[in-house]
Amino acid sequence: MSPFLLTRNLPEHATDAALRADVLKGLTGTPKTLPPKWFYDAEGSELFEKITELPEYYPTRAEREILVDRAGEIAAATGARTLVELGSGSSEKTRFLLDALTELHTYVPVDVSESALTLAGQALIEERPGLDVHALIADFTGGMALPDTPGPRLVAFLGGTIGNLLPAERSVFLASVRALLSPGDALLLGTDLVKDEKVLVEAYDDGAGVTAAFNKNVLTVIDRELGADFDPGAFEHVAVWDRDNEWIEMRLRSRTAQTVKVPALDLAVHFAAGEEMRTEVSAKFRRDGVRAELSAAGLELAHWWTDGQGRFALSLSVAR
Ligand code: AVJ
Repeated sequence: MSPFLLTRNLPEHATDAALRADVLKGLTGTPKTLPPKWFYDAEGSELFEKITELPEYYPTRAEREILVDRAGEIAAATGARTLVELGSGSSEKTRFLLDALTELHTYVPVDVSESALTLAGQALIEERPGLDVHALIADFTGGMALPDTPGPRLVAFLGGTIGNLLPAERSVFLASVRALLSPGDALLLGTDLVKDEKVLVEAYDDGAGVTAAFNKNVLTVIDRELGADFDPGAFEHVAVWDRDNEWIEMRLRSRTAQTVKVPALDLAVHFAAGEEMRTEVSAKFRRDGVRAELSAAGLELAHWWTDGQGRFALSLSVAR
């Protein structure tokens, strides 16, 4: 059987320390914020999987449609021998790429979740004898080193997750991705697109309330990890379109005036009645904006593919 290697690029307790730092900064700032990366404990990951199946949440289906249609072109354009997937999760959509990349030698899934990596990686080497899988436990927003694998390299960052970064964070992130590549290597990037406000808001405020539960789950994570006494029922899910910044914001609105204790941080946080805390930004893009951001990082837009309804884009760019 082909090898399955696992490399840890993150110190054992890095996640705990990062959560504490993020929560302290976010709850003591004005306005209050929490970074979206803490949504994804086991419960949050399950809720996100449910979101991807909601009638209102189109991005996953739109991106899958593009991947199915374009995998052959992606393979021909890149000739990739190494595929690096950032935030690989369950590696579900990756199968279309893996099946099309005929020259592929090594797959490098990168995720902060060791359990997700091990589960997905083990399944893959059984399905694909001959493929090396070198999983990497790493926070890809924090800069990272890749294993020494054969080129050309293709880095894939799918799902539209780049939209969770603020513009300044995106430029740092894209520069760090470019630093992993040699000239001629490629980046495959999924970006959700600007569209009708109603369609966007409903995608983040579904009728069944799954996104509301997903949003409130971040409070449960903080309760469990930091001993806090957030009552998720004391907050209301809010999704708004910010037309100036062209992003969706998810917020949690305090239903009453309340004080929440966070013992691990020795903190008591007051919320006014109606006060809103930002929990996620999900930016929506246009082709020219994506082209400019890639270009500033040393990446040249080579292909731009959308689904039939023009809702979502996959771009392929090449390192200069
Ligand atoms: C997984 C980051 C792409 O921003 O659309 C889904 C997360 N948040 N519903 C997104 C999410 C609310 C999702 N990403």
